[in-house]
Amino acid sequence: MSEGKPEIPQHVAIIMDGNGRWAKKRGLPRIRGHQVGADSVKAVLQACRKSGVKYLTLYAFSTENWIRPKAEVLGLMSLLSKFLRDQSHELHDNKTRLRVIGHIDDLPAAVRRELLNCVAETAHYTEGTLTLALSYGGRVEITDAVRAIAEKVKRGELKPDEITDKTISQHLYAPDIPDPDFLIRTSGEQRISNFLLWQLSYAEFYFTETFWPDFREKEFLEAIEVYKNRHRRFGDIK
Ligand code: IPE
Ligand code: IPE
Ligand code: MG
Repeated sequence: MSEGKPEIPQHVAIIMDGNGRWAKKRGLPRIRGHQVGADSVKAVLQACRKSGVKYLTLYAFSTENWIRPKAEVLGLMSLLSKFLRDQSHELHDNKTRLRVIGHIDDLPAAVRRELLNCVAETAHYTEGTLTLALSYGGRVEITDAVRAIAEKVKRGELKPDEITDKTISQHLYAPDIPDPDFLIRTSGEQRISNFLLWQLSYAEFYFTETFWPDFREKEFLEAIEVYKNRHRRFGDIK
């Protein structure tokens, strides 16, 4: 965590929003927006490599998204499968590891298998980390951490007064990944919709009207320029 004018963010988190509205504006079915949105994922991943962003975390499916119509949920799951098949060689070529956060046991078994295979096959890479938040909710993540900590207290492995904010961080889904420096949300909405509630405590926020399917390398680099001009103080007076 460095104070003052930052360079490139080490970790960018994105709430990829606006696929449905992008499609609606064009008189297309919502799924078309998700399909074109998958191309934005590829473009942004490549832009991260080029610009030196090491960690990219994408909000792909929230715990709340399960209430959407079944056909849309299934469409999103099959797009995820397709994305994994398409991107697998790219991840290898670029020595990027795939990680997942969220309740992936909720995903259809076939998709879960493909996902876990890809995670295992790329686990040893250190050039970059792509984390997909799937069936993810920030409150559930914190609740899961509290439960795990309570179990340790019950077993006598930990005393209540030994619990610090670090203890909570260490019990989240990806304790080894640094907190995001920069959060981007597309589509004009200005809320975090239950994303990384704990980890975003000192992130810089960036909201853009652009719908996710239109968010590509150019838009990403513009956002990074904005980040570079932010002044991070972390509570200090500098
Ligand atoms: C984001 O786009 C993708 C997911 C939430 C899975 P939306 O599907 O939320 O698109 P809008 O917000 O309805 O336009
Ligand atoms: C947030 O988008 C979740 C993802 C991008 C996966 P939503 O479209 O679900 O969020 P709300 O409902 O507008 O807050
Ligand atoms: Mg939305």
